[in-house]
Amino acid sequence: MKAAVVDRAGAVPRFQDFPDPEVGEGQVLVTVEAVAVENVDRAIVAGTHYTSAPFQAALPAIPCFDGIGRLPDGTVVGFGGVTPPYGTLAQYAAVPATHTAPIPEGIGAPIAAALSSAISAMSMRTAGGLSSGETVLVQGATGVAGRLAVQIARLLGAGRIVATGRDEEALRQLSALGADAVINTAVDDAELVQAFRDHAGDGYDVVIDYLWGRPTELLTRALIPGSFAMPERTRLVQIGESAGPAISLTGDALRTSGLEIYGAARNLASGMAAAYQQVVDWLRSGELAIDVTTMPLSEIESAWTRTDLRGTRLVIVPD
Ligand SMILES: NC(=O)c1ccc[n+]([C@@H]2O[C@H](COP(=O)([O-])OP(=O)(O)OC[C@H]3O[C@@H](n4cnc5c(N)ncnc54)[C@H](OP(=O)(O)O)[C@@H]3O)[C@@H](O)[C@H]2O)c1
Repeated sequence: MKAAVVDRAGAVPRFQDFPDPEVGEGQVLVTVEAVAVENVDRAIVAGTHYTSAPFQAALPAIPCFDGIGRLPDGTVVGFGGVTPPYGTLAQYAAVPATHTAPIPEGIGAPIAAALSSAISAMSMRTAGGLSSGETVLVQGATGVAGRLAVQIARLLGAGRIVATGRDEEALRQLSALGADAVINTAVDDAELVQAFRDHAGDGYDVVIDYLWGRPTELLTRALIPGSFAMPERTRLVQIGESAGPAISLTGDALRTSGLEIYGAARNLASGMAAAYQQVVDWLRSGELAIDVTTMPLSEIESAWTRTDLRGTRLVIVPD
């Protein structure tokens, strides 16, 4: 079969022949229809993700671990459960039958492939406990996941949405998606701390954080109150690390600010089914839009290295 193949850590995948996967007991052969390429896939290829060991040990290997495909009986399913060196950027994948589920009617394969970022943005409610009327800060709102988070905050009834990013043009577009105020993080430290304070209103109730690193470190400083007043809670949901893998959290920032930090996986297992159904309903009604750019598998090399896809998810469609 044809596949995208990586031969060493961090290499750009190449379109080439690869042995067909063997279908083991309890497995089904899926003809791949659409695969979203996300930061997590690039991190696994680079060897920097905490789950990258099996992929790296199996090189040369096919990247990406989930996708949308067609079963032999014609059913279109979402699937996962591939075992390296096999991945989903290929014509075919052999996966456990238990790792397939029909995609919702009315949702095309490329959008279905890109659903996961929208579902994980629901962690502002499942992990962060967002209630309607509360103020949400989206850190990294100019990215694919952050743009979805702004829309989802609005759909969940947030009272105020503050959105951060670096790209001025992308920041301008966020008001049409529901942001009430934007903050450019590409300013010096003191200016950014002040901007977080200026836009806080009565306080950030929930932060959904795709950045971590410097902007979030400065946010924690901005949350330190200027008096002994009792702080309000700020529930920060940690979901991405585009600006860096670590922050330095000072004792006073944690002690005085009302800051609570949760991983996005908090309550995920119990909240996943409802989050999924809600996202599907919004997509069907047209209230939520996921921007995707599709490219054929044969063009994986140029697709993988594109730098112009800001705010839109790359989805590979085998040709
Ligand atoms: N846990 C989950 O389920 C989940 C789901 C989706 C995403 N994520 C994670 O969330 C993060 C964002 O994903 P994405 O798909 O939205 O990526 P993306 O489309 O590449 O967006 C990246 C965002 O981070 C900003 N950014 C990038 N580098 C930065 C830096 N050095 N300093 C400050 N800001 C920076 C970008 O700002 P500008 O474009 O304005 O420069 C943009 O807002 C990634 O870490 C990803 O792995 C996690």
